[in-house]
Amino acid sequence: MISTDIEAAVAVLRAGGLVGMPTETVYGLAADALNRNAIAKVFAAKGRPTSHPLIVHVAGLGDVEPWAKHLPDVLEPLLTKWWPGPLTVLLPRSSQVLDEVTGGRDTVALRAPAHPVAQALLQQLGSGVVAPSANRFGRVSPTTAQDVVDELGTSVSLVLDGGSCQIGIESTIVDLSGSEPKILRHGHITQTDLETIIPGIEVVDGRAEANAPGMLPGHYAPNARVVVLPPNAQISEVIETAEKYMEQGHQVGVLAPETLNLGSLASSLVQLPAGGDPKHYAQVLYRRLRQADNDGVSVLVVVPPPPVGSGIAVADRLRRAAYGSHHTD
Ligand code: TXA
Ligand code: MG
Repeated sequence: MISTDIEAAVAVLRAGGLVGMPTETVYGLAADALNRNAIAKVFAAKGRPTSHPLIVHVAGLGDVEPWAKHLPDVLEPLLTKWWPGPLTVLLPRSSQVLDEVTGGRDTVALRAPAHPVAQALLQQLGSGVVAPSANRFGRVSPTTAQDVVDELGTSVSLVLDGGSCQIGIESTIVDLSGSEPKILRHGHITQTDLETIIPGIEVVDGRAEANAPGMLPGHYAPNARVVVLPPNAQISEVIETAEKYMEQGHQVGVLAPETLNLGSLASSLVQLPAGGDPKHYAQVLYRRLRQADNDGVSVLVVVPPPPVGSGIAVADRLRRAAYGSHHTD
């Protein structure tokens, strides 16, 4: 099922099947964006409500036109700088975009992934694919081919192996469909990066975001309950929090930039160091959340990276993972 055969993957897509597709952000669950039946399979495999719209993936800037009604002036400088790459843009949709893709909205999300395997797949297919992250709805996104198999099993015919994802968290989403460009989802490309092309670009605030489909507060959640401490939390605070849950009989894990000196607790805790650099933290975040589950962690105490650069996007994912922790004490 895990393969490197791009021709075989193209054949699966042409026949209306599902393909696990590596991208530089996370693995996607790809289906022909012009095939209603194939799109229905994506929603079924993920267990995702059909009102949650999908991103259409294309090879590059030259492939945007068939999908968009018109192209705003800011699009070209933006895409010239970041495409192919971890940037998704929301545009007014053209008539070829199926209602099933957008949940009936009048906008379409477009992204050109940079991963060479995704590029080869899209170029050989010569069209677009929808590709939500290849996880079950609400769960942790996959960053290896094996993760996709673990998440979706036999509902995906073939998973292309492109190694571990370099970026590790989903693309930044920018809404260009209205009068003012807005950031809908944080990612590797930050607000500061985007300001170089769109001065003063704003972020949609949390409450409005919760109303946007697929931006639900409870998302990216492992089995473990996630407890997020402040980024500057002291070791004493980590120990105090860990002890509280250990006393309740939990297997506690600690996700932090470094391995911490937790003294006598160290031997009964699972430590999951993620790296002090926010980019590295983002790269390994989902792998660490999966590890926590595999190691039987029932409460994961998290020290986030500093809230700069990719650290902002990591904090956003952790906040949602924590909200999704419906387990009670
Ligand atoms: O990095 C990524 O973007 C990955 C890889 C596989 O490319 N894909 C991904 O897809 O994260 P997904 O479906 O997990 O997240 C897509 C997000 C959702 O939050 C969805 O609500 C939003 O994009 N979205 C898509 N189309 C939209 C639309 N027309 N209006 C508003 N939000 C939209
Ligand atoms: Mg997703």
